[in-house]
Parts: sequence; structure tokens; C-alpha cells
Amino acid sequence: MVKICCIGAGYVGGPTMAVIALKCPFIEVTVVDISVSRINAWNSEQLPIYEPGLEDVVKQCRGKNLFFSCDVEKHVGEADIVFVSVNTPTKTQGLGAGKAADLTYWESAARMIADVSKSDKIVVEKSTVPVKTAEAIEKILTHNSEGINFQILSNPEFLAEGTAIQDLLTPDRVLIGGRETPEGIKAIEKLKNVYANWVPVESILCTNLWSAELSKLAANAFLAQRISSVNAISALCEATGADISEVSHSVGMDSRIGPKFLNASVGFGGSCFQKDILNLVYICECNGLPEVANYWKHVIRINDYQKSRFVNRVVSSMFNTISGKKIAILGFAFKKDTGDTRETPAIDVCKGLLGEKAKLSIYDPQVSADHIERDLSIEKFDWDHPAHLQPMSPTAIKQVSVEWDVYEATKDAHGVCILTEWDEFKKLDFQRIYDDMQKPSFVFDGRNIVDVVQLRRIGFIVYSVGKPLDPWLKDLPAFA
Ligand code: NAD
Ligand code: UDX
Repeated sequence: MVKICCIGAGYVGGPTMAVIALKCPFIEVTVVDISVSRINAWNSEQLPIYEPGLEDVVKQCRGKNLFFSCDVEKHVGEADIVFVSVNTPTKTQGLGAGKAADLTYWESAARMIADVSKSDKIVVEKSTVPVKTAEAIEKILTHNSEGINFQILSNPEFLAEGTAIQDLLTPDRVLIGGRETPEGIKAIEKLKNVYANWVPVESILCTNLWSAELSKLAANAFLAQRISSVNAISALCEATGADISEVSHSVGMDSRIGPKFLNASVGFGGSCFQKDILNLVYICECNGLPEVANYWKHVIRINDYQKSRFVNRVVSSMFNTISGKKIAILGFAFKKDTGDTRETPAIDVCKGLLGEKAKLSIYDPQVSADHIERDLSIEKFDWDHPAHLQPMSPTAIKQVSVEWDVYEATKDAHGVCILTEWDEFKKLDFQRIYDDMQKPSFVFDGRNIVDVVQLRRIGFIVYSVGKPLDPWLKDLPAFA
């Protein structure tokens, strides 16, 4: 029986290995992690991450050919194929701080693999890493273990949170990069055979190592660039009376552009886009390509602009002051169908509103109060962020309450900000919300999910990103 071990039981390692176990019952898959609480959660009824369909898959395989363990060294030592799916966050200190990827976790995993290996292994980069990382990993492995052959493959993951299981079951493509040597080609074949159990072979792409590593960074940069492009146009829509939904639809009907990923929003979030673009920027700078670096930097600049633009809209619409006013925040996760809040635009928007001394009442169906308070307290690394997006002070934390009911969160509020596109927000009883709010009552829709006409009929003053402005807002002085 082939044995697979995955180091890192996170948003990628857990779901990816669960799907491999489901589709390859003859392979023993063990996911290991240094976090005892995470492994305990994977072995319990309450999985550590919320992802539609994940529980079903885990329940079908766990204890049969899918295992979660803290005995990292034992399982790595026994495995034929070792996936490394540890976190690769942005460096916060030292050389390249605020841009470069922090490879501390990756390197310590590689050194551990070298220490415990007694047989040849295929080591698979599942984490998103800077191009050329495989070369460094190869050196660490080969210089720390004699007589053992390691083949390094790059097999970046393209799943999106909220749709991870579907993405893994029917991926657009699986990408495998390896050395162009006989051993490298053999290793690629071995990994390809794993995926070929459910992925059509024509969707399994094999490339050299550097192309695979760079393709992942490029794919995320392209996706984020689409959102920044549509968000940039949303600002122009608001200035001119065009409607971003109509513009996106018309633009996306061009088959060369395509309709997906053109939803204007309060800004993109998530653990990947910003981190990977910053990483790309750093790599370009290190390779003497400042123009290329600047091009990609602007994707993040527009994203920051979009978040601060949203805060400015709220403040200016409500008579230029929100001091002491209750504002309900609907949605804190970075997108629907996940409890993940890493780099969620809600953090920057909430900090912006708190900086204006608003009182926030936050509701998200999947994010706990502790989690929200922690997110609003920690400092994030600062890279060209607008001045008002500052970390929250201890006084500000007192301005935040977290509710488990939308109607409690919105009661007596002056304004409602929709920051995540949860389906349940589309079905809210807005008449009830309006009746219980202060007047005039404002709705700021950062996800374009409400029916603007119906809400205006109820009496709300409505702002929806990139939509023609409410007459109320049109008469306000221009800003930003
Ligand atoms: P995560 O933080 O959820 O999980 C990483 C896990 O690795 C953590 O549980 C951590 O405890 C563990 N870990 C770190 N060092 C370890 C070590 N030496 N030994 C054992 N365990 C260790 O991260 P994630 O979201 O799963 O992302 C993992 C990688 O995949 C990142 O490089 C990310 O960029 C990439 N990626 C993420 C997504 C996504 O949607 N989250 C999608 C594609 C790619
Ligand atoms: C992303 C990539 O899509 C995925 O391929 C990669 O493996 C990891 O990074 P993820 O961050 O999980 O996935 O979610 P995604 O659906 O890409 O959304 C990212 C952010 O962009 C979210 O905040 C989302 O709300 C926002 N978004 C997405 C928009 O604002 N508009 C869109 O049209 C699409």
C-alpha cells in the first residue's frame, strides 16, 4: 500500500488529503500537524474548518485510510510521498519584511523530513512558495541525509475556500512540476497516477519545477487583478451613473474575457491574494524588474483604495460623523461559506469605522466573538495602507459587540454595512430591520447583494458598490 503523509492540517492539507483518501481507498493518507488542538479537532465531530461537503468526505474515510496525527516524525518516516502544506505567510520582520514569503515553517518541515527519512521519498510542495524554492529545499534535503534519494515536485493547490471540495473533486487542472531527469519524470508519473484516479489525464499538466511554482503566483495575481480592475471601474461607475453589474456583464460576455470573477466588492480578502502578490512583487524586485513589480503592486493599492473608499462613503453619507453611532456589520468572513477571516476586508473597514469612533455591532454566521475581537486587536503589517486604516486601540475594542442574531445587531443602528455575501443576507426581512433602526436608516452594501430598488422603497438610503448613487448621496460634496 502506498503511504502518503501531509505535513500541515490546515485549509489546504485537510480537504486535499480527505479527497485523495476518498478517491484512492488503496492509499493510506495521514495528515500531521504540530498543532495538537487542530489534530484533535480533525479527529472530533467539530472539524477545525467550515467547508461545505468536507464533513461528509472526512466521515467516509477517517479511520479507514485517512488519519490525523501529531506523530509527525513517525508518519513522515514511513511515507512514500510527503506533501508539505504548511503556511507560508508574509514576512513581518527582517529582509523583505511586508513582502517576501516567510519560509521558516517550510524549512523546518524540510529539515525534519531529512532527519527522519530512512527510505527514498517524493517530497511535494503543496504550499504556495516563491519560484525557485524547490532548489533550496533540494539542498536542505540532500545535505542532511546521506544515501537517500529525494525527488522534489511542485504541485500547487488551486482550490478556493467555500468551494474547496467541489474544486478538488473536479479541478480545472492539476499542475505537477518536476526535474527533467529520468528520476524526476518517474516521480511526476507516480504523483500523476494518484490524481488520475479521478482527474481526467488531459487535465493533469506536467511542467518543469519553476513553471509550476511561478504558475501558482501568476494565477492568483491574475485573479486578484480582475477584481481590482472591476473595483477600479466601480469607482468610475459611481462618478458617472453607470452600473457596475451592467458593465461587468457586458465586458464578461466577450468570450476572451469571460464572465467569472467580475463581481465588484468592498475589496478582496483571504490568506492568498495579497500575500502571493506581495511575494511576486518581491521576486520581481530581487530579479531587477521594478516596472513589473510596480505593475502588480497596484493591484493591492486599488484593493486598499476600495476598502478606504467604502469607509469614506459611510462617513460622508452619515453627515460626516459616525462618532457614537451604532453601525451593524453583517458578515466578517472574507467570503461566504467559510469561517476564515484572514485578510478579510471587514478588518480594515471595521478599523476604519472604529477610527471614526463608531460603535460596531458585528454578526457573522460562522465567525465567533473571540475570533472577531482577536482580529480587530492584532496589528497587521503595514504596507502603503491609507492613514485611517490603523490597528485598533484598547479603547476601540470597547466599541465592538458581537451578536448571534442579525436583528439584534441591526436594532437601533444608524447604518448597516454588508461585508460578506452570505446567502442568508439576501433573504432578510428588511422592513423589520428598517422599523427597528434609527432614522434616516442607511444600508451600505459592499457585495451588491441587496435589491436596491426594494430597499429604497422601504425608506432606506442605499449605497451599493458601483451602482448609480442614491439621490441623497449624489448631493453630497465629492471626496476621495
Ligand atoms: P493553514 O495555516 O490553515 O495551515 C498550515 C498548517 O501547517 C497549520 O495547521 C500549522 O500548524 C502547520 N504547520 C506549520 N509548520 C509545521 C511543521 N513544521 N510541521 C507540522 N505542521 C506545521 O494554511 P493553509 O491555508 O492550509 O495554507 C497552506 C499553504 O497552501 C500556504 O502556502 C497557502 O498559501 C497555500 N494555499 C492556500 C489556499 C487557501 O485557500 N487557504 C489555497 C491554495 C494554496
Ligand atoms: C483564491 C483563489 O481563487 C484560489 O484559486 C487559490 O487557490 C487561493 O486563493 P480564495 O481566496 O479561497 O481562493 O477565494 P476567492 O474565491 O478567490 O475569493 C478571494 C476574495 O476575492 C474574496 O474576498 C472574494 O469575496 C473576492 N472576490 C472574488 C471579489 O471581490 N469579486 C469576485 O468577483 C470574486
